Amino acid sequence: MGQVKQQIKSLIESLGLGRAADKARFYYQYLQQKGKINAFKAAHPGLPLPTPFMIYETFRLDYAKYLETGKSAAVSIYEEVSPFIELKGKSILDWGCGPGRVVRHFPDIIPTAQVYGSDYNSEYVNWCHENLKEITFTQNQLVPPIPLEAAAMDFIYAISIFTHLSEKMHMAWMNEIYRLLKPGGVFYFTTHGDITRKNLLESEQQQYDAGTIVERGNVKEGYRMYATYHPPAFIRQLVAGKFEVLKHRPGKAQNWGLEQDVWIIRKNG
Ligand SMILES: C[S@@+](CC[C@H](N)C(=O)[O-])C[C@H]1O[C@@H](n2cnc3c(N)ncnc32)[C@H](O)[C@@H]1O
Repeated sequence: MGQVKQQIKSLIESLGLGRAADKARFYYQYLQQKGKINAFKAAHPGLPLPTPFMIYETFRLDYAKYLETGKSAAVSIYEEVSPFIELKGKSILDWGCGPGRVVRHFPDIIPTAQVYGSDYNSEYVNWCHENLKEITFTQNQLVPPIPLEAAAMDFIYAISIFTHLSEKMHMAWMNEIYRLLKPGGVFYFTTHGDITRKNLLESEQQQYDAGTIVERGNVKEGYRMYATYHPPAFIRQLVAGKFEVLKHRPGKAQNWGLEQDVWIIRKNG
């Protein structure tokens, strides 16, 4: 994104108009896509689908992609962590599951696993609870904890959650993930890394280059327009002492946009 576009975006957010602008964008897209949405629903009778606003807010307004990318993300998470942990028969948590895009596919991929999801948005949690019966859902608040027992999970993943949280919340949530994992348990999460640096204003790029987390925080924390960028050095420092870094895969420019970085870490002990 160009610097001018970024400056306009930053101005809209600093005026407190970020959420209103986003709602307007949603209605515009919805009107344009209404026919396609109705055709998709008609072609998939009986398939539980969240409301258009839910998939817009957590992903993008495209039901076919919600299903396709959710499944391919679940398969690729499974494959990418398999050198580090066997997931068959294990407990798995999707922290920040939204309306189930990824987690809904895990019971098919690993039928023997106990699958859990949690989110701070009660609408998503209620929808998931009503519609995805093979999975156990809980609601948490913006701040930890997740109402699950300590050392209950073998594997936790979080797709595009830290990308919407403040620095303070990174510390708190990394401690909560540590509490929830069994010793030796694995955490897979994504961040805005070097490839997304070009989306920052010049002053923010300087902050990023100095290894400091960058927060665009003029909207409600956790909401998709609250954007956070993570120099890899910041993440390594965040997890040091409690976790071992097993893998860092920097995001690349793809034909659909800029990929987030993937981190796979293991709880010490
Ligand atoms: C960009 S969406 C991603 C949703 C889902 N992981 C996916 O990939 O489709 C971000 C999600 O994080 C959730 N979220 C933000 N802060 C959270 C927090 N502190 N705890 C749990 N969920 C949170 C939002 O409600 C939203 O569902």
